[in-house]
Amino acid sequence: MEVTRETAWATLTRYTTSEALLRHALAVEASVRFYARRDGEDEEFWGATALLHDFDYEVHPTLDEHPQDGAPILREEGYPEELIEAVLSHAEHLGLPRDTPLKRTLFACDELSGFVHACGLVRPTGLDGLTPKSVRKKLKQPSFAAGVHRDEVYAGAELLGLALDDHVANVIAALQPIAPELGLRTAADA
Ligand SMILES: [Fe+2]
Ligand SMILES: [Fe+2]
Repeated sequence: MEVTRETAWATLTRYTTSEALLRHALAVEASVRFYARRDGEDEEFWGATALLHDFDYEVHPTLDEHPQDGAPILREEGYPEELIEAVLSHAEHLGLPRDTPLKRTLFACDELSGFVHACGLVRPTGLDGLTPKSVRKKLKQPSFAAGVHRDEVYAGAELLGLALDDHVANVIAALQPIAPELGLRTAADA
């Protein structure tokens, strides 16, 4: 099969109805695509992988199912092992090696995209004017977006060989163009 954004979106939406989960998929997709463009990688393939990384979360909401029980579904649909392996590798509990740029990027973008999204949701101008410094401050408040694993945010930046502030700035820039799809306000609304 040819992996495209359309095939990935069709698979994702066959298994996912939650708006929050769809927005999470879109946010991680935008961040992963940012790095694919920066590094001259296959943006369509990387984006499709990111869209699908949590595709089974709604049907497999616990760690003894997600994402490992999603893999056979993706295989059945004809997705290549390279994509399936990358999807599996985002899960900390599986302990799989992150031995390709795609795997490293997906892991590094997963939690941070969710966190930056959450930062944007509580600001009247969304992501516009959001600085890495203020994101860093919020990371130190355990009660804010408590579900985001801070250790994975820090480990992700390190895995990409980036200073945390640079990684945060990249993710903010990646999410800004899709702010409306993420339910975020912009400076134009304020
Ligand atoms: Fe996941
Ligand atoms: Fe995720």
